[in-house]
Amino acid sequence: MARERSVYRCQACGLAAPKPGTCPDCARVGTYVQLVEERAAPARGPARPGVTSTPPQPLGDIRVEGDGHRTPSGMAELDRVLGGGVVTGSLVLIGGDPGIGKSTLLLQVSRELGRRAGPVLYVSGEESAGQVKLRADRLGAPPSGLYFVAETDLQAVEAHVAALAPRVLIVDSIQTVSVPGLESAPGSVSQVRECGARLMALAKGRGIATFLVGHVTKEGAIAGPRVLEHLVDTVLYFEGEQHHAYRVLRAVKNRFGSTNEIGVFEMGAGGLTEVPNPSGFFLAERPKDAAGSVVVAALEGTRPLLVEIQALVTPAGFGTPRRTVLGADYNRVCLLLAVLEKRVGFPLQSQDAFVNVAGGAKVFEPAADLGLVLAAASSYLDRPLRGDLVVLGEVGLAGEIRAVTGLETRLKEAAALGFIAAVVPQSARGSLAGQPLDVQGVGTVDEAVRVLLAP
Ligand code: TYD
Ligand code: MG
Repeated sequence: MARERSVYRCQACGLAAPKPGTCPDCARVGTYVQLVEERAAPARGPARPGVTSTPPQPLGDIRVEGDGHRTPSGMAELDRVLGGGVVTGSLVLIGGDPGIGKSTLLLQVSRELGRRAGPVLYVSGEESAGQVKLRADRLGAPPSGLYFVAETDLQAVEAHVAALAPRVLIVDSIQTVSVPGLESAPGSVSQVRECGARLMALAKGRGIATFLVGHVTKEGAIAGPRVLEHLVDTVLYFEGEQHHAYRVLRAVKNRFGSTNEIGVFEMGAGGLTEVPNPSGFFLAERPKDAAGSVVVAALEGTRPLLVEIQALVTPAGFGTPRRTVLGADYNRVCLLLAVLEKRVGFPLQSQDAFVNVAGGAKVFEPAADLGLVLAAASSYLDRPLRGDLVVLGEVGLAGEIRAVTGLETRLKEAAALGFIAAVVPQSARGSLAGQPLDVQGVGTVDEAVRVLLAP
């Protein structure tokens, strides 16, 4: 028995409300759309007579069959983010901006998965068979276990899955497939939710590893994200700048591994290639002995990443000085410039300041504070820091340098890349015995500027 009801549903987060307005959940305005939804008669309540559910079992006695089995995808960077390979029967959502390389990544891994796990079914609602074939050809020899269908009707997809019995299913994208019975358009929250739930049943019921592609909306959320994020096992975001070659795959949620891992790729003419040594990639074009350039060791989850911070401080024209920041937090940079002005005495009110993290990388960690301050100071004074130095430390408003987490991991990465010296918070200096680097502790910003940028 089904009843119809009219509801308003937020198209950004899926919250239902009796009337439109500002969404109380995600605070967006104008996202409510009126929908007529069919609601099945409540199936909850006491179990019907004659229906017995499985009795609770001691956890230790539960047998796991086939589940938890992992297949390497042929891309170690993806496997790492997934927690060690593609898990049988898992449902993975890959989100990212259009054009970032989601389809390319999945097409590339399907080749290897087709060889190792069995047939892979690639369903695209966005591209035609010809387009995908051309791309696949460009990426290498034709794979044997890879099947393709251009389809947007989920029922047809289910039929194809029943006929082909694939081990891996790729749906590109979840916003283009739809269930015919529902009134709302493909990509709407109800469609995304319904399709997600049915693909989940398919993945779990048949033990098919399923990848769903989700496009990110302008606000930075996967459309219908909340409804899918709690449903799927793993949520990955594929990030990067359109005009920079490097891409980062990041786990936001993972039932089969840690969310601390990232995978780094480079987009080139032959598709995506793995970047096992991202620090080397980011530092490859670093200018030698340039004022305003400082290397910091950031930490992405558990993975250290060396990046170059560049600052350009130039006399301002008339009026309020300009502050432009790319790849770091704008407010944090303004705060650090204020510390430099007040605690060291640089007249930055009369200076424009431009800060950029090279190669399109992003650092939002407080551990990069000292690097940002020194980059600005170095540019202002027009004196370079030594080129083989890596800088770490959080800066407080009093100009004090505070401790950072994971110092040893960061320093080890710097040493591995040929750095010779490091500047760290004074408080952490004592705990760094047996370091390969020549480590120097500093207590305040003033001291750091005096010691490192002496004429
Ligand atoms: P695509 O995987 O289609 O992105 P998404 O599925 O996330 O929308 O990637 C598209 C971009 O990648 C496109 O701008 C072209 C570029 N690209 C390359 O530079 N080299 C390649 O070999 C391929 C296949 C794509
Ligand atoms: Mg695509």
